[in-house]
Amino acid sequence: MIVVTGATGNIGRPLTQALAEAGEQVTAVSRHAAAVPDGVRHVVADLARPAGLKPVLEGAKALFLLLSGDLHAAGANPAEIIGEAAVGGVRRVVLLSTQGVATRPFGPTRIAMRALEDALRESGLEWAVLRPGGFASNALWWAESVRAHQVVAAPFGDVGVPIIDPADIAAVAAACLLDDRHTGGVYELTGPEVITPRGQAEAIASALGTPVRFHELTRDEARAAMARSMPAELADDTLDILGSPSPAELRVSPDVQRVLGRAPRPFADWAARNVAAFR
Ligand SMILES: NC(=O)c1ccc[n+]([C@@H]2O[C@H](COP(=O)([O-])OP(=O)(O)OC[C@H]3O[C@@H](n4cnc5c(N)ncnc54)[C@H](OP(=O)(O)O)[C@@H]3O)[C@@H](O)[C@H]2O)c1
Repeated sequence: MIVVTGATGNIGRPLTQALAEAGEQVTAVSRHAAAVPDGVRHVVADLARPAGLKPVLEGAKALFLLLSGDLHAAGANPAEIIGEAAVGGVRRVVLLSTQGVATRPFGPTRIAMRALEDALRESGLEWAVLRPGGFASNALWWAESVRAHQVVAAPFGDVGVPIIDPADIAAVAAACLLDDRHTGGVYELTGPEVITPRGQAEAIASALGTPVRFHELTRDEARAAMARSMPAELADDTLDILGSPSPAELRVSPDVQRVLGRAPRPFADWAARNVAAFR
């Protein structure tokens, strides 16, 4: 049995589906009840209380560990989850980390994530670490304004990064959970090309078959909007990357191709599959 945390999110949904289709028994974990693919068991649990995961992890052979953005800030100790996994007999853990651990190693959330990676390496378990850059699904921030006004409003319209389709992260996670060859792998995951917010708006328009206008926000306007749904520090951090990506953050990584034997999917592909959110 494989335990998937974050199971109802952008990565967890396709990962749960892929593992179920591969014939694996899957336990899907999230805090809220949710529909899961046929044959998958859903368990309500909160990762902020690792002791509560004990019955979920017992007898599992592998764990996909995804911490929601605010888990470190909540003062939880996610390394305890790895400890519970080891006690429960789990053999392998695949950790969803972030590219920033390597490209911007300072700042509390990345220092905490690096510490979690280290705890996993030292746990005695088999492990793999995934370090994705920005997600294509962040474009869902624009869904409401595209639906209501056919507008994408974003800062740094002409500054791109090679954003990754969460379904590709899920495919890499499935490979790491199922295939021994990825034990000890640290994979940096990006999409196939640098794409700007203006380019993303064009791809959404093309998927919709209707025009979408791009409206460039100032950094301050974007910060004010983002601070409504995330800590101000995280908004500043995200804006630093979006406005001034480093050479390492602009690089297209070969790792999706290496693991999956195919190129990562372009943003246009994600937009076509998720067009209903913008309609
Ligand atoms: N977005 C980016 O550009 C980016 C880049 C690099 C790394 N990341 C990392 O990617 C992760 C987000 O992945 P995603 O987009 O797939 O997530 P998502 O779509 O936001 O979904 C989060 C999932 O985690 C569950 N969850 C949240 N808090 C939980 C808790 N305390 N206990 C148990 N389950 C919990 C949610 O369900 P419930 O709400 O029902 O619990 C949901 O299933 C974060 O760790 C983020 O740091 C994101």
